[in-house]
Amino acid sequence: MRRPRRNRKNSAIRDLVREHEVTVKDLIYPLFLTGGSKVRTEIVSMPGIARFSEDLLLKEIEECMKLGLKIFAPFPNIEEASKDKYATLSYDRNNIYLKAIKKIKKEFPEAILMTDVAMDPYSSDGHDGIVENGEILNDETIDVLGKMALAQADAGADIIGPSDMMDGRIGALRQILDEAGFEKVSIMAYTAKYASAFYGPFRDALNSAPKAGDKKTYQMDPANQAEALIEAELDYLEGADFLMVKPALAYLDVIKLLYDNFEVPIAAYNVSGEYAMVKAAAQNGWLDGEKAMLESLTCIKRAGAKVILSYFAKEFAQLNNSR
Ligand code: PBG
Repeated sequence: MRRPRRNRKNSAIRDLVREHEVTVKDLIYPLFLTGGSKVRTEIVSMPGIARFSEDLLLKEIEECMKLGLKIFAPFPNIEEASKDKYATLSYDRNNIYLKAIKKIKKEFPEAILMTDVAMDPYSSDGHDGIVENGEILNDETIDVLGKMALAQADAGADIIGPSDMMDGRIGALRQILDEAGFEKVSIMAYTAKYASAFYGPFRDALNSAPKAGDKKTYQMDPANQAEALIEAELDYLEGADFLMVKPALAYLDVIKLLYDNFEVPIAAYNVSGEYAMVKAAAQNGWLDGEKAMLESLTCIKRAGAKVILSYFAKEFAQLNNSR
């Protein structure tokens, strides 16, 4: 009789037959930067995650690197008074973000930085693009994204992560970077980024929620799968080095779809709301947070994501080091 349970009979055998295993090398750790010094503000909706001023962010990165993490994705929390309609601060070389990127690369050249290309942290409208009469302008937004990407590359970004979902931005950014001599800067495209309720805690962290309307005219409809192939084909042809699906857990079918159809590495963003759900339930004693974290990350990898952006990265690395 064929007895599948034989391959599960003890942990050594289970280890032997295990098909997918997450390691720290698969993970990118998103971090939140804020102004000032000696500032560490907990984000209430993301227990264990904080906004750091540059000095403390450097310490945090150092600590994470000792745990084996190498790749970080910082996002800036910008004060409301500095935001405007055109996100002009985003490419001002004296902004807190570009200064911090420069500083991190100087202190830790071996830390790999993925920077965020989108207007929302700097936009007084809280949108990823320029808003005019309630509409999000596409090509005008790309002009801003181009300046932002160049400034980030110049500050030392290793990978740029356009998280905006404007049409044609991967090709435009690739060309702008290449022409400026930044042909070695990679692009991780937010390819299938859905208009998701699971971004709520992230918008708390950055105070970046849209002031009016929603993001449904640029982010994808959660009901759609085939459309992800169109986005992926465009991003691939336009030169993306990685294709990302976001969020991760409710979109494992989309991860698998891109994995089956494209040769470039697939990334998944295990977003703030996915993190918050596990943390909230664990704090209430409703589930085992550590096991839920490991299971979530493993299943995202099983679906086909080689790269996982996750707020669990540090906790995962700590756990890995203690075992
Ligand atoms: C916006 C952006 C968002 C996230 C990353 N970049 C939110 C949004 O589109 O409103 C979400 C990340 C998360 O929830 O962890 N450019």
